[in-house]
Amino acid sequence: MSILPILFRKRYLDFQHLFTMNFDYFTTVSKHDKPKEFLSVRLYGNKTSYAKLIFKIIMSLEPRRFLDAFGGTGVVSYLLSDFCKVTYIDLLEFCCTWMRALVNGVNISWKKLEALTNITPVRGMISEEFREMYFEDWENGWLDGFMAEAWKLRQPERDIAIASISQACIAKRPFGAFHRANLYFRRSKRKRSFNNWRTWNKEFKELYIRFLNEIRNARKNCNIRVIRDDCFSCDKDTDVIYADPPFVGKDYHIDYLKLYHFVEGLARWDEWENLIDWKNRLKCLYRKEYPEFKRSNAEKMLKQFFKTCECEAIVFSWAIDGYPEPAWIMRELRKRWKELLVIGVEKPVYLRGRRIELLLVAGDKVRSKIYLDGKLNWDDGI
Ligand SMILES: C[S@@+](CC[C@H](N)C(=O)[O-])C[C@H]1O[C@@H](n2cnc3c(N)ncnc32)[C@H](O)[C@@H]1O
Repeated sequence: MSILPILFRKRYLDFQHLFTMNFDYFTTVSKHDKPKEFLSVRLYGNKTSYAKLIFKIIMSLEPRRFLDAFGGTGVVSYLLSDFCKVTYIDLLEFCCTWMRALVNGVNISWKKLEALTNITPVRGMISEEFREMYFEDWENGWLDGFMAEAWKLRQPERDIAIASISQACIAKRPFGAFHRANLYFRRSKRKRSFNNWRTWNKEFKELYIRFLNEIRNARKNCNIRVIRDDCFSCDKDTDVIYADPPFVGKDYHIDYLKLYHFVEGLARWDEWENLIDWKNRLKCLYRKEYPEFKRSNAEKMLKQFFKTCECEAIVFSWAIDGYPEPAWIMRELRKRWKELLVIGVEKPVYLRGRRIELLLVAGDKVRSKIYLDGKLNWDDGI
């Protein structure tokens, strides 16, 4: 038996979908394509590795007003903010906090923020309720002490403190998330060559300062409107929208609340206790404010999303193996906008090989407005 199909399958997770698409452009990105001026922040599904490509596409559409729906790390808003009026929307407060921390134009007392490393650990909510779940006892006590002091700061400094500590929390978690209470995984003496084993065991202090400095270097004086809302249902009136909804596939979907409920709790510290669903074994937050986007409601929610978009053009991120299938999304886009351009982006995926994602650009005359080099560089490496 030839080994070629096996190699091919290993390299392309989505290989059965590869030949069903007609790309106008196809390009390959690597992790080195990340914008250097941005943070090294981790968030499932972030588009930092091809944010510059997305930026270039949006700039070709010449927006005066731009809306970043499902903003996440805020990397696309951040790049666009020097050129047009930007609105950023995300459902999760910790994501909004990250965005505000980067762009709020007021003077910041960095000394006060650095002084937070000298806090006294206390026994508070995290120590009591999250014992033996995500962090060690002394780490929980340190976090409790940190949060009590951080919450006393005025909002601009508090945003930066919460953004830095939430990034430190994510960096210290196996798989960078809180979807399992698997402290034992971290404790295991077995060194793992993957997943930043060393970082899990670094002190909060050290990681906090690392992210604080990153924010200090990346921060700029511009005005991005940051809104916490449900993008599927809220009205979106602007020139160009970039939409990057959570991944839904045939057998699984990315549930951002489940992955990040702990840092969402930090960002909503004063209300956290009332938001926790105590019956949930992860002590996740109640769903009420956080609608879940999943296979059973994906088509309905996407229809609602498109219906509430009032814009000249839209750049829509989707995965080649996403559900509903790309053909369904393309049909919906064509119902609202005149022209459609399909761009394939091949990118490396941590531990899993390579993956193909799509940028679907819909609007008036988008085919003549957008020109990218590297048209169908198909045979590269296949
Ligand atoms: C694929 S990520 C976006 C990544 C982002 N483009 C980036 O490069 O960092 C999806 C984002 O959608 C947000 N989200 C999930 N459900 C949402 C909803 N109903 N309304 C608005 N944002 C939502 C998640 O919090 C997450 O930040």
